[in-house]
Amino acid sequence: MKGVMFNVFENFLVHNWGEDFFEDVLSATTLTTTEPFVAPGTYADADLFALVETTVATLEIPLRDALVEFGRFAFSELARTHPSFVTRHDDVRDLLRAVDSIIHIEVRKLYPGAATPKIQVSDIGDSGVRLTYASPRRLCAVLEGLVLGAADCFGTTATMQHSSCMHDGASECVLDIRFAKGEA
Ligand code: HEM
Repeated sequence: MKGVMFNVFENFLVHNWGEDFFEDVLSATTLTTTEPFVAPGTYADADLFALVETTVATLEIPLRDALVEFGRFAFSELARTHPSFVTRHDDVRDLLRAVDSIIHIEVRKLYPGAATPKIQVSDIGDSGVRLTYASPRRLCAVLEGLVLGAADCFGTTATMQHSSCMHDGASECVLDIRFAKGEA
């Protein structure tokens, strides 16, 4: 996993629970990596998962909830640090359609070694999308959060049905997402 995601995770912890909490999580976690996390670096996925595990164990919160909230926060951070990937899209469906075909292609140029997931998007009616997700990391809860964060960014709300899931043995996750204009 690229260092940029570790940096986003650090910001997620600092933003919600403070700098000391992040330092405590770091010192309570056994990492394979000895180097500091820098955005272009590539680090073991296991190190991110270990930091997440320490976080949820310390806070006594459900893992899934933490991953969704991390995804939601991650979208706002990634949009803030990579604004051109977001501002060129008219609405949230347009952005989601571009994740695999444009955004993550540019991400892999910007961060060589990035292993981005496979995300396919098809329209459902005039306000929804069906999203299929496949990745050996099985981070569909983070994906849900990223979609919620993208909806926030475009001033809409998303409701989703996760009808098929890799955690239940499916080869890919299927999410049916509907967007509504609202006061999100
Ligand atoms: C500003 C826009 C975005 C940027 C800059 C960005 C960048 C990245 C980067 C750097 C990674 C880490 C890859 C690695 O370390 O191997 C990543 C992973 C990921 N991205 Fe994006 N991304 C963006 C938007 C999105 C959106 C909108 C979605 C979903 C709808 C998404 C879904 C994911 C998922 C689920 C992962 C986790 C990796 C996995 O599942 O294997 N991304 N992204």
